[in-house]
Amino acid sequence: MTAPAFLITGATGQLGATVVEQLAGRGDRLLLVARDKDRLADLEAELGVEGKVETVVADVSDPEDARRAAGEAVSRFGRLDGLVHLVGGFHAGPLFLTAPDVYERMLRDNFLSAVTATQGVLPHLGEGGRLVYFGTPLADVPLPGLSAYAAAKAALVTWVQSIAHEVKRKGVHANAIVMTMADTPAKRRERPQMNFDHTVSPELVARVVGFLTSSASDGLYGCAVPVLGRFEFSSELGGPPPGVGGPPPGVGGPPPGVGGPR
Ligand SMILES: NC(=O)c1ccc[n+]([C@@H]2O[C@H](COP(=O)([O-])OP(=O)(O)OC[C@H]3O[C@@H](n4cnc5c(N)ncnc54)[C@H](OP(=O)(O)O)[C@@H]3O)[C@@H](O)[C@H]2O)c1
Repeated sequence: MTAPAFLITGATGQLGATVVEQLAGRGDRLLLVARDKDRLADLEAELGVEGKVETVVADVSDPEDARRAAGEAVSRFGRLDGLVHLVGGFHAGPLFLTAPDVYERMLRDNFLSAVTATQGVLPHLGEGGRLVYFGTPLADVPLPGLSAYAAAKAALVTWVQSIAHEVKRKGVHANAIVMTMADTPAKRRERPQMNFDHTVSPELVARVVGFLTSSASDGLYGCAVPVLGRFEFSSELGGPPPGVGGPPPGVGGPPPGVGGPR
């Protein structure tokens, strides 16, 4: 049997190289997709191997381009076994400073691109096909200032759970990884004050991508798999757990009557 082949959309992003290394390392054949041809050429120079890890420039939020990218994977590798949809976008800003076109862009990048990429790939998948998407815990705990991003990712995960029922009848597994911020050099440069204990390494995420694109996850359909490391929601008014250090008297800590003296 020939090695499985996957379309990796959004491969030039922060997680791309690590995910590619994980899947190529076990022998999968990969077609990497992104819009920026220079960044894709750099990635090909770093990780490309003819017949094994190749690239194609496409905007998978365009249905025709998405079909073309999926068709390229089939014509290069002779088969297509799934999609790892790393395409996404981020925006932080309060409602009154966020123009409607930002909401549209967040929906296109995080949600509609998954729809069009999946519609391109699905006709080529056989029994046992794998679809993997990426969500955020902010969709379940929507903090202020992140409405466009959180709502778009919430749409994505709800959609994954819905289509999972449709595609499982064809033997295809659709699941999402719900991840917190990745610990990348770019993030460390951007946010030097942040506590990186709350992030996850791209390697840990890539290993779960490996799981969700293998028969080890045969029992999973429509799951939102949390890959959160030691992340937890916290705020400046919330103190550490009872008995560990402690905020100033009267600020934060457990609710009255719960835990130690205040
Ligand atoms: N990194 C994190 O901390 C984090 C946390 C939670 C969730 N996630 C999610 O995990 C996924 C991967 O994260 P990441 O950090 O690697 O993302 P990223 O760095 O933002 O990369 C996304 C990539 O997608 C490509 N892209 C965007 N629109 C595209 C389109 N229409 N067609 C083809 N390619 C497109 C972009 O390259 P081009 O501009 O060249 O196309 C970009 O390289 C994303 O969905 C993200 O939202 C990430």
